[in-house]
Amino acid sequence: MELMEQMTSQPVSAAAAGTWTLGDLTVNRIGFGAMRLTGSAAFHQGTRSDRGRAIGTLRRAVELGVNHIDTAAFYFSRLRSANELINSALAPYGDDLVIATKVGPARDADGEWDSPARPGQLRGQVEENLRQLGRDHLDLVNLRLMGQDSVSEHFGALAELRDAGLVRHLGISAARPEHLAQVLEIAPVVCVQNRYGIDAREGDEMLRACAERGIAFVPFFSIAGEGREAGAVRAEHDQVHAVARAHGVSPAQVRLAWILGQGAHVLAIPGTGDPDHLVDNVAAGALRLTAEEHRLLDSIGRRPS
Ligand SMILES: NC(=O)c1ccc[n+]([C@@H]2O[C@H](COP(=O)([O-])OP(=O)(O)OC[C@H]3O[C@@H](n4cnc5c(N)ncnc54)[C@H](OP(=O)(O)O)[C@@H]3O)[C@@H](O)[C@H]2O)c1
Repeated sequence: MELMEQMTSQPVSAAAAGTWTLGDLTVNRIGFGAMRLTGSAAFHQGTRSDRGRAIGTLRRAVELGVNHIDTAAFYFSRLRSANELINSALAPYGDDLVIATKVGPARDADGEWDSPARPGQLRGQVEENLRQLGRDHLDLVNLRLMGQDSVSEHFGALAELRDAGLVRHLGISAARPEHLAQVLEIAPVVCVQNRYGIDAREGDEMLRACAERGIAFVPFFSIAGEGREAGAVRAEHDQVHAVARAHGVSPAQVRLAWILGQGAHVLAIPGTGDPDHLVDNVAAGALRLTAEEHRLLDSIGRRPS
C-alpha cells in the first residue's frame, strides 16, 4: 500500500528506481521507450497517434525524472516520427538526458522493411538520427542485429563513428552472448538491449553475461510479453495478478518491478503513448517485491525440466 499512497499524493520520480552509469552517463533505471508514440495499434503502417498527446507524454516523462529515452529513426508511422516528436518536445535537451537510438534495420518511405544496412550504410543511419533529433552527436547507438552470425564488420563501422565523435557510446541489440564476445574485441559496450520479461526468459544467459561485465541489460517487450508489437493484448498470468493485488498496483507495474529486481544493471524502457500509463510505469520503480513474490513470478517463465 505504501506505493499506492505515494501515487495518490505525489507522482513517484524515476529516481526511485535507482541509477546506473552507461559509460560516463548516469541514468535512472526507469526510462522510456519511444516506439509507441507514433501509434500503438499498428506500428508498421501506423494508426496515427495524437501529436499533442505524444509530445505531452514525452515532456511529462522528463518532468517525472526520466533521463533515458530509447528511440530509432525507423520508429515512424505515416505522419509521425518518434525522433521528430522527441526533438519537438524536448529540445533544447537537458544535460542529463540520454537518448539511445538503434541502427541496422531499415524501412523504405512506405514503411516496409528493407534489407538491413550494410556496414558502409551505418554512417548514413547515424546521420539520419542526428538530423531528426537535432544533435551533433548521439549519446548511445545500439547495433540492432538482424539474425546475422558475425557482427564484427558492422560494429567496426560504428566504432569508427565513435572515434570520430559522432557517437559517444555503443551497444548491441537482439544479440547472443557470442555476439557480445565479438564486439567487445572491437570497442567498449555499455548496454545490450534484448527482448526479456517474466514470460520471455531466453535472455537469462545474456542478463548474467552483462552483470559479470558491468554492462547494462535493457529489456524490451517486458510489459507487452508475447503480445510483442501488438502490445499487452494477452491474458495476464494469475501469478502477476496475485502479486499486483497484494501491493494494490497494476500487472504492468509488477512486470516492471520484476525486471528491475533481476539486477542493478537492468534498465527498464517501458513504451507507452498514454500519460497515465507513464505515471504508473515510473512509479513501478518504487515497488519492491519480496523474495517469495520473485519465486512465484519466476515460476511463469521456468522451462519444464
Ligand atoms: N531493440 C529492439 O529490437 C526493440 C524492439 C521493440 C521495442 N524496443 C524498445 O523497447 C521499448 C519497450 O517496448 P514496447 O514499447 O514494445 O513494449 P512494452 O514496454 O513491453 O509494452 C508496451 C505496451 O504495453 C502497454 N502499456 C505500457 N504501459 C502500460 C501500463 N502501465 N498499463 C497497461 N498497459 C501498458 C502499451 O500501450 P499504451 O501505449 O496504451 O500504454 C503498449 O501496448 C519500445 O518503446 C522501444 O523503444 C526495442
